[in-house]
Amino acid sequence: MNFSAATMFSANDWFSSSASAGVLTTPVIVLDATEGIGEQDMHYAQLVRFLDLADPIVLVTNLDLIGYEQDQFELIQEEFRDVLAAINLTPSFFGPLPLGQPDLIPWWREEGSTSATQQSSLAAVPPLRMKVVSSTSENGTWAVTGYLLSGTVTPGDQVMSSPSNQKGMVQTVSDSNDGLLKLTFEAPHFVEPGEVISHHEAPPVETDVFRVKALWSGEVLAQGDPIVVETVYGTTHGAVQSVEQIMSPSTFKTISNTEIAAGCLVELIVRVDHVVAIDHIGSHPEAAEIKLFDVSNDASLLAVGHISMEGYADQRHLLTSKAVNTTPIEFAVGERARASRNGHEGGVLWFTGLSGSGKSTLAVELEARLFEKGYQVFVLDGDNVRQGLTSNLGFSPDDRSENIRRVGEVAALFRQAGVIVISSFISPYRSDRDRARHAAYSSFHEVYIRADIETCIKRDPKGLYERALKGDIPDFTGISAPYEAPDTPELVVDTGAKTIEACVEQLVNYVDRNFRV
Ligand code: ADX
Repeated sequence: MNFSAATMFSANDWFSSSASAGVLTTPVIVLDATEGIGEQDMHYAQLVRFLDLADPIVLVTNLDLIGYEQDQFELIQEEFRDVLAAINLTPSFFGPLPLGQPDLIPWWREEGSTSATQQSSLAAVPPLRMKVVSSTSENGTWAVTGYLLSGTVTPGDQVMSSPSNQKGMVQTVSDSNDGLLKLTFEAPHFVEPGEVISHHEAPPVETDVFRVKALWSGEVLAQGDPIVVETVYGTTHGAVQSVEQIMSPSTFKTISNTEIAAGCLVELIVRVDHVVAIDHIGSHPEAAEIKLFDVSNDASLLAVGHISMEGYADQRHLLTSKAVNTTPIEFAVGERARASRNGHEGGVLWFTGLSGSGKSTLAVELEARLFEKGYQVFVLDGDNVRQGLTSNLGFSPDDRSENIRRVGEVAALFRQAGVIVISSFISPYRSDRDRARHAAYSSFHEVYIRADIETCIKRDPKGLYERALKGDIPDFTGISAPYEAPDTPELVVDTGAKTIEACVEQLVNYVDRNFRV
């Protein structure tokens, strides 16, 4: 067994050493046979879980002091496997330290699973990642130079650049004088410096929002404060969208109502100013490292940690158009003509809010009231649309994003047809709602149907919260999946504080004010 790429949990400064090495590697937890399982060992296990590290290697030391007793070793093994299982971890290897002493420990055999682990770690070739420095064209050949960060590339490989999503086939590969790699292409391939080249089949994620788990070392920061974000692929500006968890560095217990302080372990949602290519702990751990810097205070380092995409979608397919060689036609009936016949503009009232916040109830009531008043109006509701247009989608982050992409496009078409669309979807992600706004390009009104999670759990009209809280429904919004409340909605309808009638009245007045011509 080769431990050269492992992080040993026998010293307190393990985090700083692994972070400064720039790699979060296989953790090793060393148990002392004479002491059994101590509090510190449990902390290390929790830390492995919190930081999404690989399944740990567990070693038991000081077996000589207990006379190499098999029973004692097995007791420790069973107990610690239970500790790990309780937090969804399985050791990748469990054995004595030092290894390879068959004369002293004749009863211990390396299990089959270990060699499987070794084999899979040997087989795991890191994906191609090349960071572009420059892009040129000369005599019908397009060349891209950059740093090879991981993987390999050979002539004939189909590669793509992120986040521009440009694809091409590599013609030649050579080292340039300055230590950079140079790829040439026969077809035009111009990419911006800072883009990441990968193979088609294993690209980085594209997103403007992600989760960060990190060790906080800087000044205190408030939610919404701007920060500078440095990943393996580049630097960009962003903000801490929300602080999800703060853990004490000594007990690994969640600290509530406390500000982030130096030494804390933090879990944050970070939003950056534009879509970037990143890797996360689940796709390419070595490239998932992230550093956060203060924008003001001399750009001092705030935190070092890694990116996780848990609960968030890869936005690549939402941004990539496969529709080539298409030419939109001009309509003979314009939007103005429709508006003047209807007496109102077309538009989108985009309801967003937790399940049980009252979106559907208000949508149905509002539609009836507006129809009575002569408006052309139609409701698009999550539970209905999911019977047809989006029936092939579930509730994973990727599926929800695609659900909202499709509905956003349909709402935009209805708007164009002169209709007032009341769209009623949880639509938990800000980036998805922003894309729906962009699709409608004018007359998009984000309406936050506000009720806090406790109120929704109490209402529980479909009994789904009860099931979700028992763990029967995975990825349930507000329980085990994120909900990003709107930052600056056009309208807030507070169903937690007002009656349904009052909320409908507020909405009808809003429509009368904003849509009449
Ligand atoms: S969205 O997140 O993609 O916008 P959408 O509004 O279409 O969700 O559907 C939400 C409805 O689906 C809820 O009102 C609820 O009835 C049902 N549902 C089923 N599973 C889930 C889940 N995991 N999270 C939230 N709602 C769910």
